[in-house]
Amino acid sequence: MCGIVGAVGHDRCGPVLLDALKRLEYRGYDSSGIVTLHEGQIDLRRAVGKLVNLETALADQALPGSIGIGHTRWATHGGVSEDNAHPHVASDRVSIVHNGIIENHRTIRARLESAGHKFASDTDSEVLAHLFVEAFDAGLDAVAATQKILAEIEGAYAFAAMATDYPEQLIVARNASPLAVGIGEGACYIGSDAIALAHLTRKVIYLKDHDFALISADHVAVYQADGTPANREAVIVAASPGMVDKGGYRHFMEKEIYEQPDAIAHSLAAMTDADGQLTATMSTEDLRAITGIVMLAAGTSHYATQIARYWIETLAKVPVVCEVASEYRYRHPVTSAYSTALAISQSGESLDTLMAMRHAASSGLHTIGLVNVPGSTIARETDFVLPTRAGPEIGVASTKAFTAQLTVLLSFAVALAKAKGSIDAERAAQIHQQIQSLPGLVGRALTLFDPIRPIAHALSQARSALYLGRGTLYPLALEGALKLKELSYIHAEGFASGEMKHGPIALIEEGLPVVALLAADEVMAKASSNLREAAARGGQIILITEERAVHEVDFADAVITVPNVDSLLAPILLAVPAQILAYLTAVEKGTDVDQPRNLAKSVTVE
Ligand code: AGP
Repeated sequence: MCGIVGAVGHDRCGPVLLDALKRLEYRGYDSSGIVTLHEGQIDLRRAVGKLVNLETALADQALPGSIGIGHTRWATHGGVSEDNAHPHVASDRVSIVHNGIIENHRTIRARLESAGHKFASDTDSEVLAHLFVEAFDAGLDAVAATQKILAEIEGAYAFAAMATDYPEQLIVARNASPLAVGIGEGACYIGSDAIALAHLTRKVIYLKDHDFALISADHVAVYQADGTPANREAVIVAASPGMVDKGGYRHFMEKEIYEQPDAIAHSLAAMTDADGQLTATMSTEDLRAITGIVMLAAGTSHYATQIARYWIETLAKVPVVCEVASEYRYRHPVTSAYSTALAISQSGESLDTLMAMRHAASSGLHTIGLVNVPGSTIARETDFVLPTRAGPEIGVASTKAFTAQLTVLLSFAVALAKAKGSIDAERAAQIHQQIQSLPGLVGRALTLFDPIRPIAHALSQARSALYLGRGTLYPLALEGALKLKELSYIHAEGFASGEMKHGPIALIEEGLPVVALLAADEVMAKASSNLREAAARGGQIILITEERAVHEVDFADAVITVPNVDSLLAPILLAVPAQILAYLTAVEKGTDVDQPRNLAKSVTVE
């Protein structure tokens, strides 16, 4: 998703903004730009492609000035071009950067063009720069101008404006898209997240929706949409510069696959109370009050919810429904059977999930946020927070956050079941012990890179692939297919093994790769016969399973085995070889593993 940065009061503003943009690269982008203001002059540099192209443009001629804004763009309205790259400038007087979508931009643009404004791009965002020119021309000051503009625009936004009328102030505003204000020594900064600013300051103010602020080198004045001053406390954020480098690995994704034992251990620790019992960071009475759960998430996080449904219903006997966040509020759901909405989001900023959570809250449900970014919007808006402690996940394809989510969700299911009395303390302790063995088991699964490499080489030649799983391994099949397609661009589809005979088996042809996820659980025999049907029609079976189940599928063409594991934990452990297979296939294909084409780490548009 787009990333915005800004600085005021720093004498090396250009290089500081470029460095901050580099820390937002993980969000995914296709063009970038920086603008500064010096002695009444706006100086703009933009480039298509990677940040190195912008760096080259800046090296040729440095940007003067101690105030500026910068942007990495992930195209939504208007193609990828230098004209459509941010920052946008209107009348050589106001420049802006924006993350989000101004949904009524066409109406606004038509009005402004009929009043003589000349637009230089096809973007929705450019209207913001012209609206500020229009307001300043009408004699409004910065506060009144911003108030008027926020009253007119509709949609999600985090934007920063810089104007020759206010040469020592940045004007920022947010609604639904994240924005952090960093308080430095004699300088202030803004960023789409705190990671962009962590090397400059860890003292951060998070604006709330509809807030706007005037930021100078030594002062931040925050206002609510109606212009009344708002008191937003600064917090010290955990992100630190050292947490966002590759640590010697080839890709962030490779590093994050290897970090999973720690991510699981730290997340488990966050779900363990002082007595060493699994807890859900909620009181027993709050847990007992849960009568039904609506799970809201997108992408990989959605597949985590589908796995958690098996655990929660089996252990706690609480009904669960898993909703695709972007569909939820538009189907006008009946919520009377549920008491609680659980929003799962690595970034804590996915707008689909945030808006679904808000809809559930407005329907009277209690809300729980399961996020990996403390201080993220979902974390700040839900009634309770279940924390994954995976550390910053930079690779666009989620890995350690996924297994950390599953660890927290299984722990939550056990704590809920215990509070509900549907399992006793002994069973809870037994499962807890199993979860405690996970970091070690995952550590052993990390030795699979070499055995998987030749399988990935063969898979990289395929035009498409199927992923099959049954029980809790069915959602893992969906996740495995997502990993392969988002990283290697090979089309892949996940199916419940039992569904094959209802149509998808028509896809089977000689040599078609079928990645089969299998565990020694109650559906192993049925899953195995589904695989036999696929093999009999020429499917090339790539079996991912635990040691004790290998014999079940003696017809597999390739076998990847992990250590034996309790079937409750199978989807967590088997996720690791599925991630490695997708990663190595993408490396074989030579795709941009950490920032796959068209993708963003945090999708903050609907
Ligand atoms: C995961 O590999 C994908 N990049 C994507 O599906 C992601 O899981 C989804 O966009 C949800 O993101 P979130 O967990 O930050 O809300």
